[in-house]
Formats: sequence, structure tokens, C-alpha cells
Amino acid sequence: MTESNRKTSMRSHMCGEISDGLVGNEVSLCGWVAKRREHGDKLAFVDLRDHTGIVQCVIDNTVDVRSEYVVRVTGVVRPRPEGTANATIATGNVEIGDCVVEVLRSAEPPPFPLDQRADEVDENVRLQHRYLDIRRERMQRNIRTRAKVNAAVRGAMERQGFVEVETPMLVPSTPEGAREFLVPSRKEPGSFYALPQSPQLFKQLLMVAGIDRYYQIARCLRDEDLRADRQYEFMQLDAEMSFVSQDDVLAAIGEAVLSAAEAVTGVRPDPIERITWRDAMERFGVDKPDLRFGMELKELTSIFGSTEFKAFSGAACIKGFNAKGAAEEFGRNKLDQMTDKAKRMGAKGLVWLKKTANGYDSPVAKFLSSGEQESLTSTLAAETGDLILIVADEWMTTCGVLGQLRNDLGRPPVHQGPYRYVWVVEFPLFVGVDKDSGRPKPGHHPFCRPHPDDLHKFESDPMSVRALAYDLVLNGWELGSGSIRIHEPEMQRRVFTALGISEEEANRKFGFFLKPFTFGAPPHGGFAFGLDRLVAILAGEENIREVIAFPKTQNGQDPMTNAPTPAEAKQLDELGIRTLAPRT
Ligand code: AMO
Ligand code: AMP
Repeated sequence: MTESNRKTSMRSHMCGEISDGLVGNEVSLCGWVAKRREHGDKLAFVDLRDHTGIVQCVIDNTVDVRSEYVVRVTGVVRPRPEGTANATIATGNVEIGDCVVEVLRSAEPPPFPLDQRADEVDENVRLQHRYLDIRRERMQRNIRTRAKVNAAVRGAMERQGFVEVETPMLVPSTPEGAREFLVPSRKEPGSFYALPQSPQLFKQLLMVAGIDRYYQIARCLRDEDLRADRQYEFMQLDAEMSFVSQDDVLAAIGEAVLSAAEAVTGVRPDPIERITWRDAMERFGVDKPDLRFGMELKELTSIFGSTEFKAFSGAACIKGFNAKGAAEEFGRNKLDQMTDKAKRMGAKGLVWLKKTANGYDSPVAKFLSSGEQESLTSTLAAETGDLILIVADEWMTTCGVLGQLRNDLGRPPVHQGPYRYVWVVEFPLFVGVDKDSGRPKPGHHPFCRPHPDDLHKFESDPMSVRALAYDLVLNGWELGSGSIRIHEPEMQRRVFTALGISEEEANRKFGFFLKPFTFGAPPHGGFAFGLDRLVAILAGEENIREVIAFPKTQNGQDPMTNAPTPAEAKQLDELGIRTLAPRT
């Protein structure tokens, strides 16, 4: 923003713009009183704040202005007296003297100080007075970072020829995974709209409609348990493209993400690397690998091929990792807790070994031959003081448990640099098997395209079929997902059959979605990433609530508006709804 477009009929400058270069100039500033200090018996200092910063104004002490009064100050910029410069603020060399103060509006004392001290205030109190919380520098920066990301993303999509299309908020209920919010219909009591979990259905229909490249900064709603990276309402950069391969989608989305990062940090990140889902699981044990730290999982199965140690003998998959230098930190108590956690996650146990100068300190060391111990040392590059953790189980359990422990032991807070973006590609088409029917369950949703190289084993070995489905991960957070879609009814039928969905059921559940595809659907694919998550990380925040102007608390409430609130009886009558007594 330039100086001229911040200037208004009431102000000549912004507080943060006042600097040595303006000494001698008369300026008019508008803002809030951040602080008042008495100075001698005639003067007072007022720190005036707007969203660009704080500047010190010297006023007559008879003027009645207090914290958070809204004022207009006119005065002359002058250097601060020798020895009184304040290096902690950008305008600290100068002050405004000879001030005429106009009180535009008085204010009640704020319920908490509107500076960094509010970081320590109960979040409910901050959210109850969010309009005050947002006056603070941290929140101003976050909200503006968010706007920068939106603008950069929009710019990148426009440059690449995407067309912005708005899709409806009142939609039919669709099976997309999460629980939906329902909206009762007044005209048809007993019927409900759902709020969209994402524009998925509509964006694919826009491809049938020949839009070719669609995008939207879309509000999505999901009734899920809230966490640091989840809100009921959140924003996606949502996109869909026709006549593309996976590479085309990744390139277009990558451009949007990297442009956003560059807009915020000033540095364009390196091109985003790729890892297959299989490799991510093998090396990091999770499908959201955090590449900022080592401690990679190593394959140990062959080392224990003929072991005498019964927990390892005959195990399908043995893996382990080296928690560098962690031996001392992990006493018996912590190791027991870690073992319990491994068991809760489905492992049969957890082997730990502490590398010492002449071998291993571990209750199981005596069961491992010297050859096995030597191989361990070399495979895991173990040195004195290292802690080695090993699990033996089915491949998925071994990877999953160790991946979680690796994160527990080494993962820095999500917002801490460096930023490590990674595409995880080739997700499995099916994950796990439905206990009752014995049929595979879809990895993402039933409309993802199977990998063409795996079609030959679609019926014989469905669990090994990969999908053209991909995620974008940043510092261990899933930023987004997408896939190349199925656009032919025959292929769709094949997937439904594998999932045990009959033609009748498919038509009943997805008919409105499947029918359009019979009218000439182009090959297409797309992606959506969570803007809240990207903004949080770029803004250096660990919780997406900090980058949302008016978020809900962990309990799904808004302490400012008190939403949700009970509905009036009259409203419910109109909607044909009777509610049960509140659950206690
Ligand atoms: P998916 O369900 O993986 O994919 O969502 C994409 C991204 O949206 C963000 N996200 C959330 N952010 C905040 N709060 C939530 N409750 C929340 N839920 C999801 C995440 C996530 O990675 N239609 C598909 C995309 C596609 O296939 O094109 C979809 O919505 O960052
Ligand atoms: P057990 O023989 O069951 O008493 O186990 C001996 C040690 O091996 C204990 O420390 C267990 O936690 C560990 N352990 C048992 N089964 C496994 C397994 N499948 N993978 C890793 N460690 C295991």
C-alpha cells in the first residue's frame, strides 16, 4: 500500500510511517491510545496506535485521553531528545510535538491489555472481545497475512487461466467423509439441505460443463471435532482442471502455494519435492511426513531373519529408528510410557536399546546375537548415547507406530522453519477392509482414478492398487488433497463393484452425480488445500484459530456472539421441527 491511499481527509500519515525523514513536518494521525504516561506537571506522553505501528505524541496533560480512546492528533514531527530514543519501536527516534488532540470517541477500559500481554489471557476472553483482540499487532499481522495469501493465490490462479465460479452453500447431503451440517427446509418440512463439505460435486460438474479450469476460494463446512488444525468452517483454495495429467495439477497448485509463500516471506521456496505414499510410510511411518528432521525409519527385517529372539522371529516387518543422543533423556519411566503408547497404537510391544561404548543397554540385548547387534549398529549408524526403538509387526502397524514415536520424539512445532513442502503421491486406492463385508474401503473417496499401471491387478489384488491421488504436506500438516477422477461410467462401475456397492445402491446414492458423466465428461482432476492451515504456518502460528478473524472455540462456540443458541419455538414450528430436551 502506498502512502497516498492510506491518506484520508482526517489523516495525513499512518503512525508507523513517522520517521526521521518527516522531521519538521506537520502531520495528522488517527488511532487508538495505546498508553499514557505523565511527564512532569505539564506534559503527558501518549503512544498512539494504528495498524501500522505506534508513535509517541507529547500532549498537554490536561487533555483527558485514556487507553483505547479514539483520537486525532495533529502535531510536528521532531527528533526525540538525546538519550530518549526507543529502539524497540520503528518510530523510536522521533515523536510528535506541539500536539492538538481531538477525542473522536472515548472508550471503556479494555478487559485485557491490547499488546503481547494478551497472549497470556484466556483464549475465551480474547474471543469474547475479538474486535479488541484484533486491534493487537499480532492479530493485525495475521489477518493481513491471510489477505496477502488470498490475493497471491487468486493472482496465481488467474494468471494460469482458471475461472472463478461460485458454487452453492445449500446442497444435498453427499457422502464425503465428514459429518455434515444440516439446514432445515421451511417449504418442505422434514427435508434438509446440507452445507457443503467442499465444492467437490459441483466442480466436477463444471468440468462436464466445459469450464476447463475452475477455481474458488471456497468456504467449507464440516461438523468434526475441532483441533489446532480444524474448524467447522474453513477455507479452501479449490480447483479442478480438464484434459490434464497429475503433473499438470501439481504444477498449477504448486504455483499457487509457492506464490503465496513468496508473497508472505519474500522468498520463493524451492520447487516442491515428491515422495510416494509407500516411501513416506517406509521412511517416516506416516502419510504426512515432516521432512524437517531425520530419525528416518530403517528396514531391519533381514537382520533378524534367523533370530532367536521370539518377539522378532517370523515377524512380517521389523523396523526401527535411531533417536540420536536420546538415551540419557529416556529413563525407565519414560520408556515404559512410550511402550504403553506403542501398545495402545496396536503394537505388541516396543524394543528399546541404548547404545553404550561396548554394546547395548537393553532388557532384550541378551537375546540378540552379536552379529545382529553389529548389523543394528551399522544400519542405524548408532553411536554411544543413542536410543534405538524397534517394532516388529505387520508392515502397516510397524510403520504407523514408529512414525508416531518419531514425531513424538523429534517433531518441532509446525510453524517453526524451515518450511518443507512435499507432495505425497500414489496413495493406495483402497485402505483397510470393512470388517462386516470383507470388502476394501476407499482410500479417499470412490471417485479417485486407479493408477493405470495397476489396473491388471484390480480384481486379483485390489489392496495393492495405487490411485492417482496425492496430498500436499507442509511440516507434517496435510495442506491439501486431490486426485485425477474417474470420468467413465465403466471404470466407475468397476470401482463400485470392488467396494461392494451395487448398481442399485450407486444410483440411489450417487445418481445425481453419475448421470451427468454419461453426457460426455472430459478427463479431469483437481485439488483443494486448506488456506487456514497454510496461512497459520506462514504467519508463524500453531493454531488456525489465530489466523481466523472470528473462529469457534475448541467446543464449537463463539464466545462473542454466543452461537450456537436455542431457536425460538416459533421458528421451529415454521420449520416443522421439534427438539428433544437438551442432553445433560
Ligand atoms: P480434503 O477433505 O482432503 O479434500 O480437504 C482439503 C483440505 O482442506 C483442509 N481442511 C480443513 N481445514 C480446516 N478445518 C477443517 N475442518 C478442515 N478439513 C479439511 C485441509 C485439507 O487438506 N474435495 C477434496 C479435494 C479434491 O479432491 O479436490 C477435499 O475437500 O487442509
Ligand atoms: P515379551 O517377549 O513379550 O516379554 O517381550 C519382550 C520385549 O520385547 C518387551 O520389551 C516388549 O515390549 C518387546 N516386544 C514384544 N513384542 C514386540 C514386537 N512385536 N515388536 C517390538 N517389540 C516387541
